[in-house]
Amino acid sequence: MKDPEFTLAVIGGTGLEALDEDAEPARDSADTPYGPASAIPRRLGAFPHAVFLNRHGEGHVLLPHEINYRANIWLLNELGVEAIVAVFAVGGIATSLVDGTLALPTQMVDYTWGREHTFSTRENLYHADFSEPFDTDLRGRLIDAARGAGIPLVDHGVYGATQGPRFETVAEIDRMERDGCTVVGMTAMPEAGLARELEIPYAGLCMVVNPAAGRGPAVLTVDDMRAAVAEAQPRLLRLLTEFLRTG
Ligand code: HPA
Repeated sequence: MKDPEFTLAVIGGTGLEALDEDAEPARDSADTPYGPASAIPRRLGAFPHAVFLNRHGEGHVLLPHEINYRANIWLLNELGVEAIVAVFAVGGIATSLVDGTLALPTQMVDYTWGREHTFSTRENLYHADFSEPFDTDLRGRLIDAARGAGIPLVDHGVYGATQGPRFETVAEIDRMERDGCTVVGMTAMPEAGLARELEIPYAGLCMVVNPAAGRGPAVLTVDDMRAAVAEAQPRLLRLLTEFLRTG
């Protein structure tokens, strides 16, 4: 049953851990009919209608392919949320998307495999329309918030969702570029598809934390990414705060 108390959820991990600290849990348990969600969603202090769900679990323990995406989306639906802003750390494929860039893609290509990716069953089959994977209205509200807060936001792009946890080969990134992808990450699918199955508007806010394989001078290291996250994080938080305040 829906609880109308919450209208908005932010799902995130890298760069948003701070939202978790000391925040009140929005319910007692993370259990769902699909097993446990990554974490209990937390109320976003100053914005009581909003919750934050830590995608990788508290302490960042869950690998991208281990996340129970169905449980996460189911739980947010049970809380009654009417929109999900999903935040992702991504690699930049388009060379214009340098470290620290914030981007709001319009499209997606799914390269993940073996993940529980649907609520459909043989008895209850639903072919969700996914032509436009990200919600236009929600994207517009985020773009307005960025403008209002004076934060540069690239308002287009194509998210390529890879399986991980390893990074891609140069040839894989070359192929993704030919496919039209401009950023690469490991967690937008099946998350976005599941939200669509439950008809929850969903937008993906990307923070570029490294050049994708072969697009930068260096071997990819998590330490370099941490530095990019630290640089972009204040802008990301300001954008989200402006969105929560006005959106
Ligand atoms: N590839 C896949 N996922 C990522 C990357 C990347 O380069 N950077 C951050 N998440």
